[in-house]
Amino acid sequence: MKKIGILTSGGDAPGMNAAVRAAVRCGIERGMEVYGIKRGYEGLLDGEIVKMEWHSVGDILQRGGTILRTARSARFMEQKWVDHGARMLEAFGIDGLIVVGGDGSFRGGVDLSKRGISVMGVPGTIDNDLAYTDFTIGFDTAVNTILGLISNIRDTSSSHERSTIMEVMGRHCGDLALYSGLAGGADVILVPEVKCDINEVCRRVLQGQATGKAHSLIVMAEGFDMDATELAKTLEEMTGREARAVVPGYIQRGGSPTEKDRRIATITAAKAVELLYDDSSSKAIGVNGGELVAMDLAEALNVKPEFNNDLYELSNILGKGR
Ligand code: F6P
Repeated sequence: MKKIGILTSGGDAPGMNAAVRAAVRCGIERGMEVYGIKRGYEGLLDGEIVKMEWHSVGDILQRGGTILRTARSARFMEQKWVDHGARMLEAFGIDGLIVVGGDGSFRGGVDLSKRGISVMGVPGTIDNDLAYTDFTIGFDTAVNTILGLISNIRDTSSSHERSTIMEVMGRHCGDLALYSGLAGGADVILVPEVKCDINEVCRRVLQGQATGKAHSLIVMAEGFDMDATELAKTLEEMTGREARAVVPGYIQRGGSPTEKDRRIATITAAKAVELLYDDSSSKAIGVNGGELVAMDLAEALNVKPEFNNDLYELSNILGKGR
């Protein structure tokens, strides 16, 4: 009987549980034994590996976070610990592994695959920073959570005629800011991918004020080269309008996954099981133009990120005061 393992790794993302559920049930359906590895690579190194049953993944589809728990493993960056991880899998008789996580987690997967383990990467991160797939699991939920917060901010911000700088996550990737800013009607979106200087931000805010906008909304990615509090202070000084920095932080990473995230999680994890069943080499699974895609795991990490400049330009036009 084939034995496979699944772990969730890095920052948690809503929809990871849907991936675990699909992997466990699709694996059992195909006659395989499925093992849940706790706390990502940390749990692998410590042998925290439990056999999963059909019912051990019941009632989790709607829950954010991950029942397997997660961690960022510093140990797994060292080759001697990767060797240890491979030996641990061998000791449990596991020869195929599903890794649900972001680029760092996939890198760990590539290291393991060099030691003869077949590793399937399922994209789980709210940052949407894996370029081989259109969307990652958790991104849609996080965008919608941010949108809810933007609506709340709009109420209070226009009542007080203030500017708000909403700083969202996404260390190297501005997608959370871009998509929530576009859908939330931001006046300005600040992302690491596009240079924008403070004078231009102030000019836009002043233009909005002059044309009667009750408030200004700036959605900023955490990776942008400025601090939200600092920006609020500068804006206040330069525009004469009160400004507040709002940083939702981890709130945007929790919550019940949207239909889209549950669907992406379910179909990518099911595909991962199918590939392991078919003895495939290591792959990264994702969606491209609505279609399921699977590409070599190491190659997937080399796909160059492409920022959606068209969306950015469109949001710039729509956020103008005139
Ligand atoms: O999950 C991705 C992410 O949310 C990044 O945007 C953020 O910088 C990071 O994780 C912070 O997570 P932690 O503090 O849990 O490592």
